[in-house]
Amino acid sequence: MLLAQNILAAILADAERLGFVYSSDPQTGNLLAALAASKPDGRLLELGTGLGYGTCWLKSGLSVNATLTTVEANMRNSQIAQSHLGNDKRIRFVVRDSGLWLQDAPAHYYDLIFADAPAGKYTHLDEALQALNVGGIYVADDMRRKTDGTDEYLESARRLVEILTQRPDFVVTKLTDFATGVLLAVRMRL
Ligand SMILES: C[S@@+](CC[C@H](N)C(=O)[O-])C[C@H]1O[C@@H](n2cnc3c(N)ncnc32)[C@H](O)[C@@H]1O
Repeated sequence: MLLAQNILAAILADAERLGFVYSSDPQTGNLLAALAASKPDGRLLELGTGLGYGTCWLKSGLSVNATLTTVEANMRNSQIAQSHLGNDKRIRFVVRDSGLWLQDAPAHYYDLIFADAPAGKYTHLDEALQALNVGGIYVADDMRRKTDGTDEYLESARRLVEILTQRPDFVVTKLTDFATGVLLAVRMRL
């Protein structure tokens, strides 16, 4: 795996400087890299680029023919991510609301969706699932109660799990004790 530790470190240094506390956990990143590698010709989508930490992990598992689109509403965040990762032609950076992006997405298009913004996870879930190909993997993190007591999205996370586990067309795995609590849902062919 070609993991650019220097880029990860530079992104985290920017995050520290800007007080951006939303970058993914390294264990989640490592899982994202493995999942990305499982889709050698895949179309990958990240909702919520942040400063590019998760993007950098996804890139490390991105095969030569795979592509990654990463969508971020905040121009500054996307620009910082692009300053670190913008020279990779397989990665497309989009500055847009992820809910709007999903509304326009073709059905069954993406092979992996890392839903790391509220839109695509706590809103626009139907649109995100509709955009996922058969065999495609939907990934969400921050599913567990936080140690610092900030549980803004805990109830939404519980609802997300409930909705997904009731879908007959998805196999759901809850990695509750892994990293910040990760949910994987894989679309089945019925
Ligand atoms: C948890 S952070 C993303 C972290 C990043 N994926 C990573 O792995 O390091 C969430 C990001 O989503 C962005 N965001 C919030 N609402 C959004 C929306 N509706 N559309 C797109 N991005 C959004 C925020 O600006 C923030 O940068």
